[in-house]
Amino acid sequence: MRLDHFLSKALQKSRTEVSNLISKGIIEVNNKKALRKNMQINDNDIVSIDGNIIEYKAFLYIMMNKPSGYVSATTDEKDKTIIDLLPYKRSLFPVGRLDKDTEGLLLIMNDGKLAHHLTSPRHHIQKKYYVVVDKELTNEEEMTFQSGIDICDGKQNIFHTKPSVLEKINKNTYYVSITEGKYHQIKRMFLYFDIHVTYLKRISMGPIMLDESLQPGEYRFLSEQEIDLLKDI
Ligand code: URA
Repeated sequence: MRLDHFLSKALQKSRTEVSNLISKGIIEVNNKKALRKNMQINDNDIVSIDGNIIEYKAFLYIMMNKPSGYVSATTDEKDKTIIDLLPYKRSLFPVGRLDKDTEGLLLIMNDGKLAHHLTSPRHHIQKKYYVVVDKELTNEEEMTFQSGIDICDGKQNIFHTKPSVLEKINKNTYYVSITEGKYHQIKRMFLYFDIHVTYLKRISMGPIMLDESLQPGEYRFLSEQEIDLLKDI
């Protein structure tokens, strides 16, 4: 649908009035100024006027490339949160957590039921990370790493990790896939072998891959197809 048709319907305004709003530069589509009245928009697009969303969508589903330095929370007394990077104030929250210094795929939504489904340990959703470390694992350590090790779960309990998948890229970089999400899990798994993680980035979560065109701090809405894939888990 054309942007001016949509606005005319949604705001109950004439085409001339709508054209004036567009030329004033106060209409945004997906958080970018929209200056062409014949621009095509579809169901996934978020249209806003002066920062207020016009079309009401009950649920928003966002993929962010989380930057380092932001906490995965809705509010925090001392740190910036990932919600501070969004212009929408629609009860959005992150699905699970990444550490403050971790980058990469973070899903953010306001659909509590789906978020609960995705974070439930019962569903064993696989999360894949790109990991840079300061020391190489030996062949024997690689086997032990993957079969399961005892780490602390962050609440002073010892936790035996489920089998994981380790793919070596070169001597200090790996892909690691795990189905759990204990506090600092990847860092603690390497620390078990006295190895420090120097960079960590999540690249996928279940069927959703990080959109590599997103720079740290950037985000986009999930497509209908991506939302369906998550609902089908
Ligand atoms: N494991 C970690 O150690 N940190 C994260 O942010 C995610 C997984």
